[in-house]
Amino acid sequence: MTKFVRLMAFVLFAVALALPIFTSPIVEGQTGTEALTTDMDAKTDDLFNNFGALGTPIDECVADAEPPTARGNGRFRDNQFIFEEEETVADGLGPTYNDVGCVTCHQSVDTGAFSQNMEFRAGHLSGTTFVDNPGGQLIHTRGTDSDVVEHITTAETVRAFRVTLSALGDGFVECIANQTLQNNVAAQPFAQRGTLTEVPVVEANNTLRIGRFGWKAQHASLLSFSGDAYLNEMGITNKFDGFGGRSSNAADAGTHENPASTAEGVIQVTGPPFDPVVDPEDDGGDVLAFADFMAATRAPGRQNPIPAAAVRGDSLFNAVGCNVCHTRTFTTAPPGTSINGGAFTVPTALGNKIIHPFTDFALHDVGTGDGIVQNAGQSTANQMKTAPLWGIRARNRFMHDGLNVNVSESIQRHAGQATAARNAFNALTAAQRADLLAFVLSL
Ligand code: HEC
Ligand code: HEC
Repeated sequence: MTKFVRLMAFVLFAVALALPIFTSPIVEGQTGTEALTTDMDAKTDDLFNNFGALGTPIDECVADAEPPTARGNGRFRDNQFIFEEEETVADGLGPTYNDVGCVTCHQSVDTGAFSQNMEFRAGHLSGTTFVDNPGGQLIHTRGTDSDVVEHITTAETVRAFRVTLSALGDGFVECIANQTLQNNVAAQPFAQRGTLTEVPVVEANNTLRIGRFGWKAQHASLLSFSGDAYLNEMGITNKFDGFGGRSSNAADAGTHENPASTAEGVIQVTGPPFDPVVDPEDDGGDVLAFADFMAATRAPGRQNPIPAAAVRGDSLFNAVGCNVCHTRTFTTAPPGTSINGGAFTVPTALGNKIIHPFTDFALHDVGTGDGIVQNAGQSTANQMKTAPLWGIRARNRFMHDGLNVNVSESIQRHAGQATAARNAFNALTAAQRADLLAFVLSL
């Protein structure tokens, strides 16, 4: 053996020894690549993140959009078209509803994102227990018949408006493992620690999973959220609508409209004369299309170029403790991981992806609680989910009730668990505060 060969043998042996150390993080799925982002510009066609097939633009004169038959087997262009459709009474719209299509509320700056549109919830207290308004806590703004338009009484003293949240990039959010969320919250200082909720996944026989969607983190799966929204925003019954706590495999899933709380009391509006379309009004295809459209959207990207003031404000965000709740970074579960109670498997396009949602998806009491209890118990009445800050530069009504019209006043409204961060912000110099605000508005 020559000296050279002996040396090579030694080097190869050393490399072989070191290899497991270098590769193990990849095996464990701890490393990831940055998720694709959208430039937050409606004029560019850059929403698709490669989950499923892209398809071709829909021309209704040639062929209708076709919904998926199972999650992930449809086409993005078709799914987006269905998300953008406006429904009519003949499609099952109403009897009570909030608007005619997903896109009418999730529209700016691009399909799937925000709008100023609000939902209204109400109920009252019995002792210290929140009780829904008779006929349900969601009070619809519209109806298909003047007899069923909802009117609440003066007894319903807990009232809350909630502004639309963006669904862009939510496929990545759906693919964050429960354990990842739990580890993040466990690392927060005790006094500021967030509450994670466990909520039923309708398509998995109501198996519990950590919630992450909605102002109360009231859903864990995009299919469950979509079924709920189709019924509760538009009045379209479907087997994923979760009405009365039913799972999608219950025999009577998708057969009940929301009762109407009218001035004459609660009216059951399922069936004639108010509800002319046979239930379920959607066979579940549209709901799959909504879920997959949102799951296939890219994450909101940063302002480009990032202004100098925002670069300066970046480290201040951590210095004053905003990042305790507005968590900068998560990595999604590896491709192949079974989630949503076994109903969905993390696809390659969404697995091991690094995202920057600037939220911990947990509930906190920052002094703004709306008093409403959804599916996580009385203790959550005065807690709200940390608002995700990605894409915030594309909206101008802030906090769950949309009552703040600039970031500065939104920060001043932070109290409770966020008091220390607000005080630390106020202790900065005026120039530093301006830099921090520029940073937030570059997200
Ligand atoms: C009337 C306006 C309106 C319509 C119509 C509407 N939404 Fe929403 N959407 C909202 C509001 C308001 C919220 C925040 C609700 C809350 O948490 O209380 C929201 C939240 C969401 C979220 C949670 C986003 C997140 O990351 O937390 C998803 C997903 C969603 N909507 C999907 C849909 C789908 C799918 C449709 C169509 C079936 C739809 N929405 C129709 C107003 C609307
Ligand atoms: C203890 C957790 C916590 C800390 C610390 C915290 N926030 Fe928040 N933040 C929240 C919660 C919860 C909300 C939603 C409150 C609501 O809507 O009622 C929120 C909402 C916001 C919003 C409104 C976003 C929108 O889209 O409506 C902004 C802006 C914001 N926070 C910025 C900051 C900044 C800047 C800091 C640091 C000075 C900070 N937050 C510190 C929990 C926190």
